[in-house]
Amino acid sequence: MALVGSGSAVPAASVSNEALSARVDTNDDWIRTRTGIAARRIAGPDEGLTALASRAAQACLDHAGWSADQLDLIVLATSSPDDLFGTAPRIQAAIGARHAVAFDLTAACSGFLFALITAGQYLAGGSMTRALVIGADQLSRWLDWDDRRTCVLFGDGAAAVAVEACPAAESGLLGFRMRSDGSRNACLTLAQTDHHQPLLEGVSAQRGGFAPLQMNGQEVYKFAVREVPQILAELLDATGTHAEALDWLLLHQANQRILDAVADRFAVPHERVLSNLAHYGNTSAATIPLMLDEAVRDGRVQSGHLLASSGFGAGLSWGAALLRWSGPRG
Ligand code: UT7
Repeated sequence: MALVGSGSAVPAASVSNEALSARVDTNDDWIRTRTGIAARRIAGPDEGLTALASRAAQACLDHAGWSADQLDLIVLATSSPDDLFGTAPRIQAAIGARHAVAFDLTAACSGFLFALITAGQYLAGGSMTRALVIGADQLSRWLDWDDRRTCVLFGDGAAAVAVEACPAAESGLLGFRMRSDGSRNACLTLAQTDHHQPLLEGVSAQRGGFAPLQMNGQEVYKFAVREVPQILAELLDATGTHAEALDWLLLHQANQRILDAVADRFAVPHERVLSNLAHYGNTSAATIPLMLDEAVRDGRVQSGHLLASSGFGAGLSWGAALLRWSGPRG
């Protein structure tokens, strides 16, 4: 598949570290030094997941020069859907992609890469030609705003990439790796609560609802700095790619210290590490396409550029992909 367009949408409200410090016991210095985050966007009443993701999808279609009815597939990576039965069909309706099949895929912060790789299989199989892969999350819904260990880290956003079938020799997905380790699931959860309501004599029914996001930050940090370099090294080896050949490292934007550690491991100069988490925090499934769209639109990422990307997070799950950006085909 070829990567031929991108688009993004973020909520209007930006909340700085200083502003957040008025709400919870934290401070700008701690957040900046430990994470690199300076502000995050928080979705307002008219900026739900469907609305944001639909704006990102439309911007992506415009960038690729496609009309919505040319789409065969929409995959929405999200862990904060508007509807547990699936939010992707709502986006399909909002943008008028009447021929596209649309479904959600959940793999937390690895979700976008997993969705991109999934879409790539449909296109490579020959049954579909054009797909939109969207990463969108609104974790502000699921944060405990009194828990300073987590609420300062996350923000809301949506972004999309347009991918098109092409001859294998021209594919922009040069290789990938995906991993899961459910034995470490408890490190990072947004789990169903255990409330049961009595129904009949001897029968109770679970009441739907989720507990706020819980994270063991240190464990997840150790996981990220161990597994991300390893999976990237495997991918570079398997594709015969030297790190010097990479134009960009495009990593999940969770913590600047993780980005720096991975870059150092491969001796990639820090100016070739894409980073915008200072402005948006961790937008979960959205971070990778949000960063890509910014760098495409400001001219840093250009047609033919080679990017090594890695997503990692809850599941635990992690993955990596070697990508070549094509851009709009004109
Ligand atoms: O997207 C999914 C992937 N997620 C990640 O990759 C996140 C990975 N983890 C991290 O990025 C880091 O572990 C954090 C940024 C979450 C935390 O950084 P840390 O250096 O591991 O801090 P810590 O949890 O060890 O906490 C150090 C201290 C504690 O105080 P004491 O117990 O040493 O007195 C915390 O209570 O910092 C305190 N602290 C805070 N202080 C001010 C924790 N959160 C805050 C805060 N403001 N927001």
